[in-house]
Amino acid sequence: MTSAPWWQSGVIYQIYPRSFQDSRGTGVGDLQGIIQRLTHVVELGANAIWINPFFQSPMAEFGYDIADYRAIDPAFGDMADFDELVAAAHGHGLKVILDLVPNHTSDQHPWFIESRSSRNSRKRDWYIWRNPGDSGGPPNNWLSEFGRSAWTCDAGSGQYYYHAFLAAQPDLNWRNRDVRDAIYEVMRFWMRRGADGFRIDVVWHLIKDDQFRDNPINPDAGAPPHECLLPLYTTDRPELHQVIAEMRQVVDEFPDRVLIGEIYLPIERLVAYYGQNLGGLHLPFNFSLLSSPRDARVIAKLIDEHESYLPDGGWPNWVLGNHDRPRIASRVGAAQARIAAMLLLTLRGTPTIYYGDEIGMKQARIAPDRLRDPLAKSMSGLGRDGCRTPMQWDETERAGFSRSQAWLPISSDFQTCNVALQRNESTSIYNLYRRLIRARRERRALTRGHYRPLKATGNLLLFVRETKTERILVALNLGNDPISVSFPSERLSGQVLVSAFGDRDRERLRTTIDLRGNEGVVVELDKATVLP
Ligand code: NOJ
Repeated sequence: MTSAPWWQSGVIYQIYPRSFQDSRGTGVGDLQGIIQRLTHVVELGANAIWINPFFQSPMAEFGYDIADYRAIDPAFGDMADFDELVAAAHGHGLKVILDLVPNHTSDQHPWFIESRSSRNSRKRDWYIWRNPGDSGGPPNNWLSEFGRSAWTCDAGSGQYYYHAFLAAQPDLNWRNRDVRDAIYEVMRFWMRRGADGFRIDVVWHLIKDDQFRDNPINPDAGAPPHECLLPLYTTDRPELHQVIAEMRQVVDEFPDRVLIGEIYLPIERLVAYYGQNLGGLHLPFNFSLLSSPRDARVIAKLIDEHESYLPDGGWPNWVLGNHDRPRIASRVGAAQARIAAMLLLTLRGTPTIYYGDEIGMKQARIAPDRLRDPLAKSMSGLGRDGCRTPMQWDETERAGFSRSQAWLPISSDFQTCNVALQRNESTSIYNLYRRLIRARRERRALTRGHYRPLKATGNLLLFVRETKTERILVALNLGNDPISVSFPSERLSGQVLVSAFGDRDRERLRTTIDLRGNEGVVVELDKATVLP
């Protein structure tokens, strides 16, 4: 029997490098800081890190505006630091996943500077240039994700260039073969240096309509201004799948690498990204839990749908948070953040943990004068700084993150919410994460087993993970009130492997499971148990 690839059997830990650990006292996290803290990732039990971009960048969008794909930005260190990081991570048995940003570059990238230099430039077609529309304004109605028109007029040539995000992030033209080849070479460059794969930024944006048709009006009258159009002609275009298949071929030139894609689409469209015969992304990010309400019935349905849409052999994955979305502990509250962790780590599929969620870090409130995210500046209320604050390591000044003022404020609760404190509290959320990950590692049913929902009502989420020889029952109370679930006509018996509050581990259960409000249990069922 062949063993599962690492990206199926393990847990991915996402590191936002600016905020993880500052080793030099600059107030900004760096690669050496990540090296210092790898033992944390090991202690947690994850087996891979995905690091947000650390490539050379003017930082208009904190690294998502790249000026040189093959250089490390000095704010984070240099190439020697990168090599050291890969060697150290591999030494700890950790894989290293990089952020590939192929949709757009910085407007300071030499490719764009050359493209912009004249209509006849050799690189003109590397970006998306159009003449003004009939009325002399932008070529069509396409909107930037950051608000307003996605077209900026370049005074030099009188033409407009397209940018799905900031004007400082012009979109590359993925219909151009040379662009594709250039980015594929970038991928090879990092894989040769030891990268174990990529998370591809906004991959569903890569190709735009070749006829530049206007996007239709969004019928949802309540949508925010930048979503008043449906992105029909700017995202999820059919030609994209050919590009992804090519990227996959590049990754497959190297053994044991992974390709993950950032895609915000409903499941029925998301699954196309696994590609024909699974020749696309290994893991199209499944963000369905990021926006699901705290409702057991809705979540049960969402999991069932996800399972049922997956192509044959397509491997699922689950996410509770990332650097673009409000923190889970603030979305559902501290008590339910534990239940969310139990769900994330017991579902079938690869979990990705956003740094800090393992200690229940909350969305920080940030004074207007300390906001840094350009999105906060262009669309007030939508800023993402609150989920990007420095990691809370301990209760010393600046939470052990930095010797000087951090680039974003440290969240005010760091003295009560930090790794050092929680490590010593057996019932902390941090130790819950660790116990869950350990259980996953030790029980094949939790990594490879089938997912089978059991009938439940109200706030109870109930399912089984099973292989031929192991069965694990997961019972999660998504409500504040106690719940009791009985299997009177069945012979339910088993032993608690992990409990939400950490005070019932190893308890024997028979016929009935009583859950306190906000409690969940992961139960190893005895062989004799018969379930409906
Ligand atoms: C997706 C990234 O996750 C987000 O942080 C960024 O703003 C956009 N790509 C644009 O680069």
